[in-house]
Amino acid sequence: MVKAVVVGAAGGIGQPLSLLLKQSTLITDLALYDVVNALGVAADIAHINTPSIVTGYLPDKNGGLDKALEGADIVVIPAGVPRKPGMTRDDLFNVNAKICQGIAESIASVSPKAFVLVISNPVNSTVPIFAEVLKKKGVYDPKRLFGVTTLDVVRASTFVSEAAGKPAESLNWRVPVIGGHSGLTIVPLLSQSNPSTSFDQAKVEELTNRIQFGGDEVVKAKDGAGSATLSMAYAGARFAIAVLEAAVGKGSSSQPEYSYVDLTSDQSGAKAIIDVIGDQTAFFSVPVQLGKNGVEKILPIGKVNDYESGLIKKAVEDLAGNISKGVAFVGNAKI
Ligand code: NAD
Ligand code: LMR
Repeated sequence: MVKAVVVGAAGGIGQPLSLLLKQSTLITDLALYDVVNALGVAADIAHINTPSIVTGYLPDKNGGLDKALEGADIVVIPAGVPRKPGMTRDDLFNVNAKICQGIAESIASVSPKAFVLVISNPVNSTVPIFAEVLKKKGVYDPKRLFGVTTLDVVRASTFVSEAAGKPAESLNWRVPVIGGHSGLTIVPLLSQSNPSTSFDQAKVEELTNRIQFGGDEVVKAKDGAGSATLSMAYAGARFAIAVLEAAVGKGSSSQPEYSYVDLTSDQSGAKAIIDVIGDQTAFFSVPVQLGKNGVEKILPIGKVNDYESGLIKKAVEDLAGNISKGVAFVGNAKI
């Protein structure tokens, strides 16, 4: 039995993400929670003939969030407001921090052992919010908390394979992306592209910038109707399924997943990262080896060149502020 819960299931990401999770035969129980429209989304998805049982929950229907979370193995969270043109992800902090705090409190009391996958922006700050709430409640397990940064890796594969003139290879094209999930905190490591590339420095910088600001392309194109939803649902489902497959011992990929995780809580392998990036940031997106308890090991980030070292330095400076903002929010909150 594997129970997956989507919190924010009726939203732009939540609906296609729930649809993609319904396609997984690994999941036996799919709980869809939102503050609006969750019952309709659940009724619709429930007609699909894959094995999982789908149930919708609203705050005042079917027991609300706490009932949805009961027995959860994995909770995927795309709840909260998205950007409009002209906004940064940090501009979402005031609204989404409160939403994340409430969801974290429910997880702490109902399903503290679940894997928690945070999509809500600003990820750089919302993941520390989850960590701090879970700590305050005495149930924090850093191996089970993930900021979802897979979309950056997905974009990098697409943009780099296209630039190399080989879009057909995109699915297997690996470009590590580390750091955080906004602008200059996103650090693509094109020198480690596999297959390797021979772009000149101007092209490397152009591609790096496109990966760092890929989210803005979608926000601009949607022109006020939100941010990336479909590509995010694809990335979120891909990562959620990787976490679940590893948990049940079915992980088949020899490739690491990338996720924004806690570097400070004696996580295996964290020290090697801190030796490279310093100890100013408590969270960083890194390659992780997944296992039955979540992060089994943080893997080394490999050799970086001088240009990438400069990107890492800038990312670390920005991240430190984003993280303290999330930590302070919970420090000042009544929990
Ligand atoms: P959306 O507005 O379409 O959907 C958000 C959903 O959250 C809505 O259905 C809303 O009712 C629901 N919601 C609000 N408060 C809630 C609560 N307390 N409990 C449960 N549900 C609640 O937005 P979207 O486009 O789906 O984006 C959702 C979030 O994901 C945004 O913050 C966005 O910035 C972020 N995002 C992150 C990434 C990433 O790479 N991590 C990528 C894209 C978007
Ligand atoms: C993205 O990278 O597409 C998301 O973080 C949404 C956004 O605000 O750009």
